[in-house]
Amino acid sequence: MKEDLAAIQAEFATALRSAGSEKDLTDLKARVLGRKGSLTAVLKELGSLPPEDRQTYGKRVNELKVHMEEALDAALRALAERELEARLEAEWVDISLDAGRREVGNLHPTTQIQHEIEDIFTSMGFDILDEPHVETDEYNFEALNIPKDHPARDMQDTFYLEDGNLLRTHTSPIQVRGMKRLGPPLKIIGPGKVFRSERTDASHEFAFHQLEGMMVDRDIKVAHLIYFMKLFLSKVFGREEEVRLRPGYFPFVEPGFELDIRCLLCRGKGCPVCKQVGWLELVPCGMVHPNVLRAGGIDPEAYSGFAFGLGLDRLVMMRYGIEDIRHLHGADLRFLRQFR
Ligand code: FA5
Repeated sequence: MKEDLAAIQAEFATALRSAGSEKDLTDLKARVLGRKGSLTAVLKELGSLPPEDRQTYGKRVNELKVHMEEALDAALRALAERELEARLEAEWVDISLDAGRREVGNLHPTTQIQHEIEDIFTSMGFDILDEPHVETDEYNFEALNIPKDHPARDMQDTFYLEDGNLLRTHTSPIQVRGMKRLGPPLKIIGPGKVFRSERTDASHEFAFHQLEGMMVDRDIKVAHLIYFMKLFLSKVFGREEEVRLRPGYFPFVEPGFELDIRCLLCRGKGCPVCKQVGWLELVPCGMVHPNVLRAGGIDPEAYSGFAFGLGLDRLVMMRYGIEDIRHLHGADLRFLRQFR
């Protein structure tokens, strides 16, 4: 038995030295200490030894067992440490390295203001309509009470297409499209691009953005128009704005107005931005003309409404003090990045 123990110990020591994986170690443990292991077999034999030998060998066998278990645990721990070190080495990341800058884009300021106004009007129960850029003469002019040869056509120089259609000169075609589609009562807004064959200058582009609005119901009056305009402007500018209505001519509204707000910069004292008058022209608007209601299939005897057409680019210019509209469409990233 003495030789057996020495052989088992030697074999264990050799196997332990060459064990290179967790599996090697668990196999070794099973071979020596498992149910059919070599040391377990010796332990079982102890019972058949004379009592004096049993005590001596029993002690030695148990000591060897404890020693082996400890050696196996230590080897397992060392193995785990080596594996961790190898992983740390392989997956090492230098966090002090420059990761390179990732460019984050932003929405164009006109789109941002458009979204803001959409939120304001939808919170007041308005629906948003998205209508075509290529329009018929009927929706862009005729149905809006602007017949052929009407001098008002000259107010909006038009890009005509070869097929007789045109690029819409304003967002007002959504008025008749909206009435036909939804019927009364209705509250709609329609933002989007419009096109005019105009020479560009600091406040004029040939492609720009408008946002149309319209409300039709029974007994709609000018007071409703003023109420909604004041509410909307106070939300856009973040404070109560003073407004005034001046007569304005548009064939599709009667009466028609230009809605002005107190100059945002000088608060009415007079400055270069408001050309010393103290007011800024902001929203053309008015009460929907009976002919337009009729074109939309609505009886003007039973219903009335207001409409407005806001120039979005000019609103952005006012809000941020931009002196030339061409900055907005120049695609200069140094300019656009300011609106993050
Ligand atoms: C119209 O286009 C009417 N459809 C507005 C309207 C709607 C009146 C409903 C009544 C009822 P106007 O041509 O004035 O109106 O244009 C409206 C706004 O668009 C102007 O106040 C201005 O802010 C903007 N705008 C007009 N022309 C240009 C341009 N060339 N470049 C940039 N913005 C422009």
